[in-house]
Amino acid sequence: MSVIDEVKQRTDIVEVVSQYTSLAKAGRTMKGLCPFHSEKHGSFFVYPEQQSWHCFGACNTGGDVFSFVMKKENLDFGEALRQLAGRAGVTLPSRQAPADRDKKDRLYQANATAALYFHNFLLEADAAEKARQYISGRGLNEKSTADFQLGYSPGDRQQLRRHLMEKGYTEDELLAAGLIIKPDDGQTYDRFRNQLMFPIADARGRIIGFGGRLLAGSGPKYLNSPQTPLFDKSSHLYGLNLAAPAIRLKDSAIIVEGYMDAITAHQNGFANVVASMGTSVTERQITALKKLSRNVIFALDADSAGEEATRRGVGYENILEAEIKVVVLPQGKDPDDVIRQDAEAWPGLLKGARPVMDFIFDHESAGLDLATAAGKSRLAEILLPVIARIADTVRQAHYLQQLARLVNISEHRLEVALARTQAVRSGGRSGDTVTPIATTVLADSLGDYCLGLLLGHPEIKSQAAELKPEYFESSLNRQILIAYQAAEDISKLKEMLEPAIWPHLESLMDKGSQEEAERKFTSCIFRLRERYLRGMAGRMADILAAEANRGSVANLVRFKEHNIEEELRKIFVLREKWSREQRR
Ligand code: UTP
Ligand code: MN
Repeated sequence: MSVIDEVKQRTDIVEVVSQYTSLAKAGRTMKGLCPFHSEKHGSFFVYPEQQSWHCFGACNTGGDVFSFVMKKENLDFGEALRQLAGRAGVTLPSRQAPADRDKKDRLYQANATAALYFHNFLLEADAAEKARQYISGRGLNEKSTADFQLGYSPGDRQQLRRHLMEKGYTEDELLAAGLIIKPDDGQTYDRFRNQLMFPIADARGRIIGFGGRLLAGSGPKYLNSPQTPLFDKSSHLYGLNLAAPAIRLKDSAIIVEGYMDAITAHQNGFANVVASMGTSVTERQITALKKLSRNVIFALDADSAGEEATRRGVGYENILEAEIKVVVLPQGKDPDDVIRQDAEAWPGLLKGARPVMDFIFDHESAGLDLATAAGKSRLAEILLPVIARIADTVRQAHYLQQLARLVNISEHRLEVALARTQAVRSGGRSGDTVTPIATTVLADSLGDYCLGLLLGHPEIKSQAAELKPEYFESSLNRQILIAYQAAEDISKLKEMLEPAIWPHLESLMDKGSQEEAERKFTSCIFRLRERYLRGMAGRMADILAAEANRGSVANLVRFKEHNIEEELRKIFVLREKWSREQRR
């Protein structure tokens, strides 16, 4: 998760706004006197579910918590971010000074030295005899042990620490690398003891952290390095440095869960396999893979596959700009089990991989009776938000048709419902347990897609004037657009933005160049404008429902709602005209 997401997740807009004006509950919204202009009747609304605000009075504007603080305190984005981060207790990255780079290099070296020490200890020490037996018992050969530089950590609490300090590393460096632990009182000691060690490398092969497997005793099976300046479990894939050539060559990557799964796959000649290290796959991991291949297969465990695919599959397809495939493993087995039992079975299993959307369709309709009205409506309710997130218009239309057939409703009616779903920002399936605050950090895939096109294609810059910051739901994308429009050339963009925005900017730039970018971009602007207007209409409908005919706000809102419909009609006409011209 990026620091900005973290700040958002730990911040509640209702709390922030309440410091400036008092809010009262009005249906699903919160209402108050606008803190930006003086008024007698409240026309200022906060939407807790979307973590956004809007003034329907004199300001007639809105946004997220960042834009609120920016406007209220008269700050730029970076200052507002720092203020909210301070409030949320999140540390922001700073522009990296050369001294920091040197410090990091020392940590990489400390890790490399530790990995070598564990590896030699595994190969040579008497105390590692059990570990050597364990490894051969699991079928791993010498080559795998060497390729993955497996190791064993001594039981003595000071052994690694002593070794590294003799090599000149300071206690602070070892603490920063997560190799030792400092108790509140007393002597520091080695974090990893009596564990089978899996060094974790980054894409360039530098060791950034470790996973340690307990071979005896009770406790969690694996202990990993803590978050350090080098290591963030959720942004790396285990084995990527070794798998990269094969991923390029085969033009496909397979993501499994465990260290052992990846190693066994490699040992059996399936070298395009990487491991997500047990947690859900993240956007950053997908972005890293995309540089090597767009064809990604998830090998998922039978219990969690459906949930995982439905929640994240489409978002990742949008990043990859390609279909993701899913293979579900036999109940109770992981790839290590499958491959060790019969290595030939693995390619067969992969051949059966299915597009993630097809898989979601099956998974979600499995428990429903589609002969009943209730079953049909439930399925549409679950799948529409998922389909709404598909950025590729051709594939979106395909799955909309598929849903229309399944529930036997005209495609046109589903399209109307789809537009409504797109307007209400929906993160995943409805009835999902995500807390409202968490849903706001879900990616704005359409916005990302549009900016990605812009950044990858300098030739469409002239069209970017049509794009307005408020079309984007997140301040992050708004900031990037504003900087882009002000920058004379794209190489200046980075220095104009906060370092906290860089990872997001880079992931957008990674999307690279595309065919027919100009046409796609125009189509994107139409969709963004429509989404923006429908979003406004949806908010107003919420207000009307809460106000039920009362007071001046209701009238104001009705009036504006009318304008929005007018605007939507205009867009519709323009788009029709444009598509006719395209067809010619
Ligand atoms: P598994 O339990 O499937 O581990 O967890 P595994 O790799 O197959 O190991 P074996 O076969 O039991 O020896 C999958 C991954 O989840 C992470 C590790 O990265 C592990 O490889 N994990 C699991 C943890 O980080 N901590 C845990 O306690 C368990
Ligand atoms: Mn396993």
